[in-house]
Amino acid sequence: MGRLNVNLCGIPLDNPVIPASGTFGYGYEFAELYDINILGTFSFKGTTREPRFGNPTPRIAECPSGMLNSVGLQNPGVEKVISEELPRLKQVFRKPVMANVSGFSVEDYAYTCALLDREPQVGWLEVNISCPNVHGGGMSFGTDPASAAEVVRAVKRVTAKPVLIKLSPNVTDIAAIARACEEAGADGISLINTLLGMRIDLRSRRPVLANTVGGLSGPAVFPVALRMVWQVSQAVHIPVVGMGGVRTAEDVIEMMLAGASAVEVGAENLVNPLACRDIIRSLPEVMDRYGIASLDEIIGGV
Ligand code: FUM
Repeated sequence: MGRLNVNLCGIPLDNPVIPASGTFGYGYEFAELYDINILGTFSFKGTTREPRFGNPTPRIAECPSGMLNSVGLQNPGVEKVISEELPRLKQVFRKPVMANVSGFSVEDYAYTCALLDREPQVGWLEVNISCPNVHGGGMSFGTDPASAAEVVRAVKRVTAKPVLIKLSPNVTDIAAIARACEEAGADGISLINTLLGMRIDLRSRRPVLANTVGGLSGPAVFPVALRMVWQVSQAVHIPVVGMGGVRTAEDVIEMMLAGASAVEVGAENLVNPLACRDIIRSLPEVMDRYGIASLDEIIGGV
């Protein structure tokens, strides 16, 4: 095994670096900038049963050390993802991809996962029960252990692929929700999604975002994400994928020490589209600096 290799729910990764859903589209724009086959994998744009136009604009607000988004799950719907996006992706990405799935009902989640389960390109299902930008679904499933477990059970019934559940940080007891997902059969947990936030335009005295509130991501959230990854890793026995404000190889190593088996990079892709390539390139040197022989052996080593 190479020194960057890790394993995520039984599938080997060349390295733990994974662009996060919503910051990497369906991959092919980034494939024009670098060979995306160097990635561990990537999580594609949150996909729903029906196509979605997303929320009204403005959907983005800049903040010191981060950004707010309220995109609202804009995507072409699962059928088009399968008929158009996945064939296009196949031209540029030869590894199993992570399919990120959102829904507005338990049935929605199961329907979309059942279709994606048939796709050989899909390695993992990352089931997002934590989107803060939609009403009547998304985060409402991820803030209650019983609702989270119901989604897990419904999805596990329709797929043989590993199911990671993406959790919201907008809760008081993240460990209780992670444990409920594990007990319901989840194969892994990914966290954190964005933190609910808001900005006001002083001239208009109106919220900057048309949706009033949105999700905060970027370096500002890194310590919160790290704390929650550590808490969840202590609470469950299934793999954890850490994310939230990761920008550097050092951040990846911190996340892994906190317990992450792999690490997603989100907002940084929007600042520097080469961020994941740069992190992968610098990992060996940073590992040498801190006396790390292989990444696999530092997971949970805090
Ligand atoms: O609004 C969005 O599309 C974001 C989704 C999420 O944060 O899960």
